[in-house]
Amino acid sequence: MASSPAVTANASSAPASNKLGERVPDPCVVVIFGASGDLTKRKLLPALYHLEQEGLLPKDFSVVGVARRDLSATFVPDMQDGILKGGGVDASDEKLKPFMEKVQYFATNFDDDDGYERLKKFLAEIDAKHGTKGNRLFYLAVAPEFFADIIGYLGRHGMVASQEAGSWVRVIIEKPFGTDLESAKKLNADINAVLKEGQIFRIDHYLGKETVQNILVFRFGNGIFEPVWNRNYIDHVEITAAESIGIEGRGPFYEKAGALRDVLQNHVMEVLSFVAMEPPDSFEAQAVRTEKLKVWRAIEKIPVENTVRGQYGPGKVDGKDVIGYRQEDRVDPNSTTETFASVRLEIENWRWAGVPIYLRAGKRLEKRVTEVTVVFKQPPLHLFKTNGTEDKIEPNILKMRIQPDEGITLRFGAKVPGPTTNVKPVNMEFSYADAFGKSSANGYERLLLDAMLGDATLFADREGVEATWALFTPILEAWAAKPATDFPNYPAGSEGPKCADELLERDGRAWQNL
Ligand code: BG6
Repeated sequence: MASSPAVTANASSAPASNKLGERVPDPCVVVIFGASGDLTKRKLLPALYHLEQEGLLPKDFSVVGVARRDLSATFVPDMQDGILKGGGVDASDEKLKPFMEKVQYFATNFDDDDGYERLKKFLAEIDAKHGTKGNRLFYLAVAPEFFADIIGYLGRHGMVASQEAGSWVRVIIEKPFGTDLESAKKLNADINAVLKEGQIFRIDHYLGKETVQNILVFRFGNGIFEPVWNRNYIDHVEITAAESIGIEGRGPFYEKAGALRDVLQNHVMEVLSFVAMEPPDSFEAQAVRTEKLKVWRAIEKIPVENTVRGQYGPGKVDGKDVIGYRQEDRVDPNSTTETFASVRLEIENWRWAGVPIYLRAGKRLEKRVTEVTVVFKQPPLHLFKTNGTEDKIEPNILKMRIQPDEGITLRFGAKVPGPTTNVKPVNMEFSYADAFGKSSANGYERLLLDAMLGDATLFADREGVEATWALFTPILEAWAAKPATDFPNYPAGSEGPKCADELLERDGRAWQNL
């Protein structure tokens, strides 16, 4: 993917390439705020090291972890531990030691002017010592309330402007980006007051997943699917993001978030945009973002009657007893926060008008499954008998399995061997693991690399986040005005609340089993 002009506006000379001819970013320092958190150890450092293994990091490179506590003695070994646990790396790997020598820790409070001055000096010293040329990628892996403040401090201390002639400064912002339309707009305004839009990389880690990117390759890199990818052939689309885990000790965060804000508004909507968008005229950031935005803006206002919510009670997951949401640590015993959310929507454009799209996301469901299901229309005539008692042939179904068990299944009818003409549905399978082997990549590799290269194609932009919040804010308001009275309404380990089934039953349809 090439960079958009807007994004490379402050980039230095064209990136170098590695032995395979892949682009390698300019020398730079990756500065991670909130480095004492889980994300840095579990995802970011392992991802950076995978890039190093692939020869995709510049030779002149450094990582600085910034957090409040004094972790100078433990940070580097702790990060190495994270890299080893992340998989695909052996302690004897010859690149590991030299890589760890490039990792450093810097302690400061996020609201300490003096701390930013010291950090600025520290980074300049790294430039002098490691040849990182003033190029900076700041990564805000902090609680969302710090995003605007940290960017404000960086701005006031002259750290977001070019540090050397031709150098660049970019900032990756973790999710959640706002909690509703108003807060997202305010955050956008605050950060745009300091940074140019081309410097801002709003991350949604789903876009780093191979299987999500493959939706575009599947649709636009093949000739045979796109002609049937429309209202003439598709009956409906389901997107499911089911998790078997609970809230993993994140009570205070989740109480304020809920399933709609946590997963549906961002991850699921990103996936939907890839499923539904028109072919962009290139894979440059602006072209892709424009097409995604057109999808979100074409979605009809979602009536609250077309939404349902749920909360898990105690139950069994993987054969083990688990507690209900209200019993989780630091959760209100009368909480009305939803741990399951589902909506039915329609995209009012020529491709999709009249095709219902059902989205669902939930915690503590029977299985972890993230997938897109495209259910095609039935043939106009049923010439053949089915093998069973039903007289209806199953529709063709295309499943794109995002995780786990990554792959694609196409379900179609086949003749059952024998002297009669009976039809039975069978599956044609593509499995990532079988075709390409198991990968230890965690999705952040691609996004970190793209941000270092200045390619914003797989990042959300200002208008995009506001468009998705505009769709969901009225629902959140309606839900807040009328808190659910039937919670908990699904047991942990089930397929979700009954009301979610009813959402499809009304249309004469049913969810695919998890
Ligand atoms: C995060 C949510 O953004 O995505 C979590 O905050 C959720 O609640 C996670 O568990 C799901 O990501 P993945 O990659 O495990 O599907």
